[in-house]
Amino acid sequence: MSGTSLDGIDTALLDFSGSKPTLLGKHYQAYPSALKETLLALHQPTQDELHHTQLVANELAQAYAAATKMLLLAANVSAKDVRAIGCHGQTIRHRPDAGYTVQLGNAALLAELSGITVVNDFRSRDIAAGGQGAPLVPAFHHKMLRHPGIHRVIVNIGGISNLTNLPPGQATSGFDCGPGNLLMDAWISRHLGLPYDKDGRWAASGSVIPALLQAFLDEPYMHTLPPKSCGRDLFNMGWIEQRLNGKEAPADVQATLLALTGHAISDAIQRFSPGAEEVYLCGGGAHNLALLTYLKKALPNCLIQLTDILGIEADWLEAIAFAWLAQQTLQRHCANLPEATGARHPCILGAIYQA
Ligand SMILES: Nc1ncnc2c1ncn2[C@@H]1O[C@H](COP(=O)(O)OP(=O)(O)O)[C@@H](O)[C@H]1O
Ligand SMILES: [Mg+2]
Repeated sequence: MSGTSLDGIDTALLDFSGSKPTLLGKHYQAYPSALKETLLALHQPTQDELHHTQLVANELAQAYAAATKMLLLAANVSAKDVRAIGCHGQTIRHRPDAGYTVQLGNAALLAELSGITVVNDFRSRDIAAGGQGAPLVPAFHHKMLRHPGIHRVIVNIGGISNLTNLPPGQATSGFDCGPGNLLMDAWISRHLGLPYDKDGRWAASGSVIPALLQAFLDEPYMHTLPPKSCGRDLFNMGWIEQRLNGKEAPADVQATLLALTGHAISDAIQRFSPGAEEVYLCGGGAHNLALLTYLKKALPNCLIQLTDILGIEADWLEAIAFAWLAQQTLQRHCANLPEATGARHPCILGAIYQA
């Protein structure tokens, strides 16, 4: 899994032979900063971008193959014993409104380099069926984390935040709430040269600017009804800059960006998961203590914890979900949840590149 945060590659080795998936190994590989910069640049039109995009797709395949190799070495498992790699790829454009989404990564090359069958391009089929192509994790949350008598909500705080609503006895649904970490990451990177705001400490040192928060919340996406999904196409540094007057203290802007993410999540829960009893967080943003404090205050009636308590580590949940999605593809099972993506019908997701 390599998500919108552009932090790096989460590789997880899963055994699905039992009733619950067993995590046999995990390995995280951060992107070199040059690759992160290149990927960021590809989010905007550039000269000869078709050529550059294909070269970066090859570079990503090399990085995914290297991460896979490290994972298997550490777990002492040989490539021939691995049924498939579920490779999300790196999103550089997400435009369901225009009928496409691009997750970069040369799957043919990854299959060649690793000697393992690769499943990729999970999102396009759902978009072809009229859906958003995202979020795809709600089906996995439904399968693994729902409770027959307790109303649970799962919130994945990656670059973008998305939620899955699991009301007992009713249909599971989900959507992208809005920004997760990506705006906070971009702001601290510009001002302090750090990749992210550890534990939300810098945000906690500032004060929310009410007028700026209001300008952030006026964004139409925040008021669009689900199904909906978003990415860096909408939320990026330019989006922040358009709403600044230039006089704000940087730490106060960080505090306001944190409040935006906190509001996007808590408002989504209040409006679309009324009566939710338990909220489980996953994704890197689940470690942002200042954000956790915000959510606890905004949702006093919910018990808020990490998914670790339910037996799936918050940092690895999405990587595990994409291994499961690959398994669904190989078994020819539909794995999109039309209630979450808005697709006209369930679909078999993904493309298979044989080893
Ligand atoms: N201790 C922490 N405090 C605050 N934010 C954190 C912490 N650890 C990770 N993060 C955030 O999590 C992000 C990575 O989360 P991840 O789940 O990998 O997102 P994505 O799926 O978009 O790649 C980092 O970029 C950072 O913003
Ligand atoms: Mg990540």
